[in-house]
Amino acid sequence: MAMESMRMRRTIRKFTNERISESEIRDLLLAAMYAPSAWGKRSWEFIVVDDENFKKELGNLTPYSSQAAMAPIDIVVLSDKNASNAWIEDASVAAEHINLAAAKMGLGSSWIQVRGMNHNAMDAEVYLRELLGIPSNYGICCMIAVGHPAEQKSPHREGEFMPEKVHRNRFGMQAAA
Ligand SMILES: Cc1cc2nc3c(=O)[nH]c(=O)nc-3n(C[C@H](O)[C@H](O)[C@H](O)COP(=O)(O)O)c2cc1C
Repeated sequence: MAMESMRMRRTIRKFTNERISESEIRDLLLAAMYAPSAWGKRSWEFIVVDDENFKKELGNLTPYSSQAAMAPIDIVVLSDKNASNAWIEDASVAAEHINLAAAKMGLGSSWIQVRGMNHNAMDAEVYLRELLGIPSNYGICCMIAVGHPAEQKSPHREGEFMPEKVHRNRFGMQAAA
C-alpha cells in the first residue's frame, strides 16, 4: 500500500558495497517515469552515475553531498526548461518517486539538493553541468544517492500527524473537532 511505503521511507546516507543491478536501476527509473508532470510533458531526464571518479566529485559537490561518493549509484535528476515552465516540479516529483521505489525495493536512498546550492564559491549547478556535460537548457534539480542500506532508521509514526499544519477552507481555520 502506498501509505505504508511512504511511512517506511527514510533518508539513508550510509550504504554497503553491494552493487545495484541493472534491473534495479531500470525499476528505479521506471518509477520516476510514472511520475505526473505538468501538461504531461515528461520534461525530466536522468543521468545514472556509477563511475568512481565522477562519484567522488559528486561527493564534494555541496557541503551536504558526501554520501554521493559512497553510494553505488547516484541518479542526477534534470529537466528540460524549454519543455516545461514547471520543470522544478516535474523533476521533484520524479525524484521522490525514485526515493519511494527505492524504499519499497529494500534499498536506501537520499535526496541531495543541487539547485541553488554552492560548490565552494561557485553555483553547484554550473559546476555539475560542466562536469557531466549537461546542456544549458536542462535545469538540475537534485541527485538521488541509492544503495543497499548500511544504517537503519525507524519508520515514520502515525503520531507525526500535525494538525497545526492543516487549515480548513481559510488559512488559520481549523476543522471542527
Ligand atoms: C528538497 C530536499 C533537499 C534535501 N537536500 C539534502 C541534501 O542536500 N543532503 C542530504 O543529505 N539530505 C537532503 N535531504 C534529505 C532531508 O534531510 C531529509 O528528507 C529530512 O531530514 C527528513 O528525513 P527523512 O527523509 O528520513 O524523513 C533533502 C530533502 C529534500 C526534500
